[in-house]
Amino acid sequence: MRRDVLIPHDEIIGKIEELSLKISSDYSNKEPVLIGILNGVIFFFTELVRRLTVPTRMDFIRAASYGSSMTSSGAIRLLKDVELALKGEDVILIEDIVDTGLTLAHIVEHLESKGPASLKICALIDKAERREKTISIDYCGFKVNEGFLVGFGLDYDEKYRYLPDICVLK
Ligand code: IMP
Ligand code: MG
Repeated sequence: MRRDVLIPHDEIIGKIEELSLKISSDYSNKEPVLIGILNGVIFFFTELVRRLTVPTRMDFIRAASYGSSMTSSGAIRLLKDVELALKGEDVILIEDIVDTGLTLAHIVEHLESKGPASLKICALIDKAERREKTISIDYCGFKVNEGFLVGFGLDYDEKYRYLPDICVLK
């Protein structure tokens, strides 16, 4: 399949620097718990977290939606839960891409039930075209209208995650 570069690596890194400054300033006297949604978030997570100037702890959660590789069926199951206790913590949930919003809505509801003091959402890409659940993304990298994206952690059928740029798969 053809891949066209949509967001070059340098631009991704520049945006992550901006996000990390904003988050560091918003959490200046706090110690947030950062929760990455595996697997797609890996590169975004590491680039973001190592630039933060506030102390953090980190954990990961993994969910899968039933259905084909390019669409979300809406039925979400949790494959790995967080291990840190979140009660009373300031949590930032970090996701690679929000499409229908179904995955994130499910995870947010799950994490809210653990009683965090606050829960904010940071996503590298907001693909709003197919949004089904209203999600307010507190820290958003890029807004993209359409297309199936791969690279910088994003996959199609577990392929292309290693690509340094974010590309559109055609
Ligand atoms: P949602 O539940 O429809 O918001 O989809 C969320 C998940 O689907 C993301 O965490 C990604 O793993 C995957 N996904 C959605 N759109 C894309 C894309 O364009 N490229 C790669 N993965 C995607
Ligand atoms: Mg994901």
